[in-house]
Amino acid sequence: MKNLTSKKILFIICGGISAYKSLEIIRLLKKNNAEIKTILTKSAKEFVTPLSVASLSQGKVYEDLFSVENEAEMDHIALSRWADVIIVAPATANTISKLAQGNSDDLASTVILASNKQIFLAPAMNIRMWEHKSTKENLKNLRSYGYKLIGPIIGDMACGEYGEGKMSEPLDILNTIKTFLSEKLNNKKIKALVTAGPTNEYIDPVRYITNKSSGKQGYEIAKSLHKRGFDTTLISGPTNLEIFEDINLIKVETAEEMFKATQQNLPADIAVFSAAVSDFKIIKKDRKIKKQNNISISLEKNIDILNYVSNHNLMRPKLVIGFAAETNDLDQNAIAKLSNKNCDWILANDVSKANSGFNSDYNEITIYYKDNKKREKLSYKKKSELSEEIVDRIVSQIN
Ligand code: CTP
Repeated sequence: MKNLTSKKILFIICGGISAYKSLEIIRLLKKNNAEIKTILTKSAKEFVTPLSVASLSQGKVYEDLFSVENEAEMDHIALSRWADVIIVAPATANTISKLAQGNSDDLASTVILASNKQIFLAPAMNIRMWEHKSTKENLKNLRSYGYKLIGPIIGDMACGEYGEGKMSEPLDILNTIKTFLSEKLNNKKIKALVTAGPTNEYIDPVRYITNKSSGKQGYEIAKSLHKRGFDTTLISGPTNLEIFEDINLIKVETAEEMFKATQQNLPADIAVFSAAVSDFKIIKKDRKIKKQNNISISLEKNIDILNYVSNHNLMRPKLVIGFAAETNDLDQNAIAKLSNKNCDWILANDVSKANSGFNSDYNEITIYYKDNKKREKLSYKKKSELSEEIVDRIVSQIN
């Protein structure tokens, strides 16, 4: 993207010595035709003036004055919806800590908490503050919530010390934002389909067989795809999860319904099959089975949705990603699924561990790639963060 014409940027300046560099970032964004609104935190005003920011940004500058009149005028929800992207530069240790706790005691933190947009943080602080365990812990949480970091870099600091904690250069911050927005624009034309959750297979009108899948990983992948601009459809089996993003959500119950919904939503460019589809269906009785000493139920094989899509040449998405939920022989089973199911990637996870996989918020995934026979381990972390890492790889593969 040559410029940022018609792109709306909400720029948040916190109180740190590198706030002077924010003026340069704003100048560069403006040179690229971005539309900018700025929020100055209370302490930011000690370093830069609202007047200089307003002159450079040619946009509205919001100050941190909470009052009934101001709330009516500023409307933090509208402000967060207005933006295509939010940049916090410099992001101080204090702001990082507040955001990690989900505090909303000023305009900047309230807008961020209410936002459904990508948030970029450009941290700037003294090396000891940067290396402090609490800062590391806060950043770990923020990454798991989907925040992205730009920098910091290593260099001479205003306090006279040298090390990591210096805010990234304005041009690097600009380029990160430009790459993100141009990819997002490109991804709008790309259709992504995700299956998630378990399926219910009915024995009779009131009983069914299901499995322990919560759908969390698939929902997080759909959310990450949507955030990166993809035209996303999520076909979900029964879960307790909600989705607030503008994602095309199709709720189904049985494997057959999931299969039909998948067919109806082809062609797609990318398909991620994270659903734990029941391998069997039951020859269902039309009436409730009455109590009896012994009962046998007959099972028959369900259609393999992934297999169907990946071998349906005319409709095959450019990138087909399957999951392998395994309790043993992860490597061997994942490699077999990669070729048996004609996938481009298999994301394998061990579902025998209590603290990861099925029903947990955490997971550990190994990606097996068809084209270069390589594997890549994504270490144990929140499913939301893993989804970001998976979608990073999808973006670089597809663009
Ligand atoms: N899958 C599917 N339709 C099915 C069964 C599985 O689309 N009827 C997909 C899953 O969504 C997943 C992949 O196939 O992406 C592998 O699922 P998994 O349950 O790990 O393997 P199965 O093929 O069911 O084989 P097994 O149970 O023997 O391990």
